[in-house]
Parts: sequence; structure tokens; C-alpha cells
Amino acid sequence: MGTTALNASEWIWKDGEFIRWDDARVHILSTAVQFGSSIFEGVRAYETEDGPAIFRIDAHLRRFHDSARIYRMPLKWSVEELTEAAVEAIRRNGLSSCYIRPMSLWGYGSASMDPVDSSFETYVCTWAWGEYLGEGAMEKGVSACVSSWQRPHPNTFPSAAKAAGHYNNSQLIRMEALANGYDEGIALSPSGLVSEGSGQNLFLVRDGVVVTPHLDGTSLAGITRASVFDLCDDLGYQVREADVPRETLYTCDEMFFCGTATEVTPITSVDHIQIGEGTIGPITKAIQTRFLDTVHGRVEDTRGWLTPV
Ligand SMILES: Cc1ncc(COP(=O)(O)O)c(C=O)c1O
Repeated sequence: MGTTALNASEWIWKDGEFIRWDDARVHILSTAVQFGSSIFEGVRAYETEDGPAIFRIDAHLRRFHDSARIYRMPLKWSVEELTEAAVEAIRRNGLSSCYIRPMSLWGYGSASMDPVDSSFETYVCTWAWGEYLGEGAMEKGVSACVSSWQRPHPNTFPSAAKAAGHYNNSQLIRMEALANGYDEGIALSPSGLVSEGSGQNLFLVRDGVVVTPHLDGTSLAGITRASVFDLCDDLGYQVREADVPRETLYTCDEMFFCGTATEVTPITSVDHIQIGEGTIGPITKAIQTRFLDTVHGRVEDTRGWLTPV
């Protein structure tokens, strides 16, 4: 399975009913197409011994509601209703594991910046998706560069919202990294400190302490990032938020990206400077293993993170 090509399924949930994948269309003059006015989430369901289970859907849908509120969107579907939609979509599409994309958008109607005359539509899409940064990335690790593009300044784009328009910045970071032969880019904030990857947060390890940049209004408050704090607690590692100057990227012992799509993926070099031994580090490995055991239900779900399908 390619990592970038969309792997179509059969059904998509749209505002309370199921429509065929190919019928999920919008007009070219939809507000969202013209101006990027849509919000979305990225969630994963994993195979467990008892069938598929969705990882932390409550937290994702809470963030989805936060995004709607920030962008003054009239999202009428509750967390419970959208959870049910996701569960039903996975069942109908016969998926054993998948990516889940809840999405709300301003459709056709308004010609101007004020979308009030446009339709407002909500979808839940599901499709099978493998390792985001390429097959074997979780084991081998990836190369990263510091991007020449920065994350937006706070109070320009609200980074706490997962809104489509923000991802033009992410695309610049990612496309530049790929064009220069790296697997992924790391963006600095306007203050010059490390912010996050194009679509994932990151952690560094030095002298056994696990560190991630503060949420400074330039990065997304990742749910995987928050989960890593709990997994570190389970494993007895010290973990904290810190200001992360760029040069720290070159001097740490281990580093990893984390996110729903990216999962827990080691970073083995930054700007061609090798990190540690240039392989997955022992603490990264332990966190990755704990993460995979958790999402696949191989350890007890003490935090209620798994929703069975
Ligand atoms: C810009 C950005 N940062 C971080 C993340 C990681 O967030 P999460 O762990 O909630 O998927 C994502 C993925 O959604 C993202 O798009």
C-alpha cells in the first residue's frame, strides 16, 4: 500500500446518512475549496484481539468541537453521534484497521469571506492506511531537516484548531523537506525555538529525560503527544515540556515524531547530523512498543482509550 495514495472504501457518513465514496462531492466554488474553510480530525482504529478499536476518539472529537468553536462553525453533531458514525462507517466498510477523517466544511452558496450563505456539511470518512512516513519508517527511523518555513505566529492562525487552511504551511514544510531528500521537516516557531513537524509533534531524549516543546500557540496540541506523557509515566521515564532551541536537535541522544498518522517514528538524523547511534534509541523503542501494545489492546486499557467497533 502506498503511503500517499488514497485507498478508497465504499461508504462515507454524511450528516446522518451513508453515501457512496464517489458521491461525496462538493462544488468547485464551495467556500472550503476557495478559502480552505474546513476543519477536520485524523483518528486511527487498530486491530485488537476483539476486533477493531478506535484510539482516543473522545479526545479527537473534543478537539474537533474546539476547532468548530474557534472558527464559529455550526457543528450540530455531538461527540457521541460522531463516534457512532465512525463505528458504523468502519463496520460498513469492513475495515479491520483504518484512518478516520471527520470533517466539517462550508459548502456552496457564499461568494464572499462571510460563509453564512453556504451550506454546512459534516462527513466521517474511513480508509485503510499504513505507515505515514513510509514502510519500515517506525523501525528504521527517518531523516529530518529544519525547515526554512516557520510555523505561523500566534494570533495569525489559531494552532489549536485543526483547520484545512493551516495545512498550506504544513505542505510547504513537507514538500521542501522531500524536495531536499529528507523524509520530513521540523519547523521553528517565529521565536526561533523548535515547534513541530509538518503534521506531527516531536520529542527529544537526553540523559534519560524525555522532552517536548511547550505548547506556545504555534503547534497543534497532539493527542499522541499527550498520550506519550502517560506512556512515559507507565514506563517510569521523566518527561517534561521545555523551550527547545534548534541546536538541541543536534545534541540529543534520541528523537522521535509522534502523531496519529505518524504514530511513534524515530528520527535518526537532522540536517545530516546523526542522532545517537543513527538507529532507534532504547527509550524511543520502549515508548513505541508501549504505544503499539496500548493501541492494539495488548495491555490493559486502564484509561478507557479504546472504543470497540
Ligand atoms: C500539525 C500537526 N501537529 C501535530 C499533530 C499530531 O496530533 P495528533 O497526535 O493528535 O494526531 C498533527 C496530526 O494531526 C498535526 O497535523
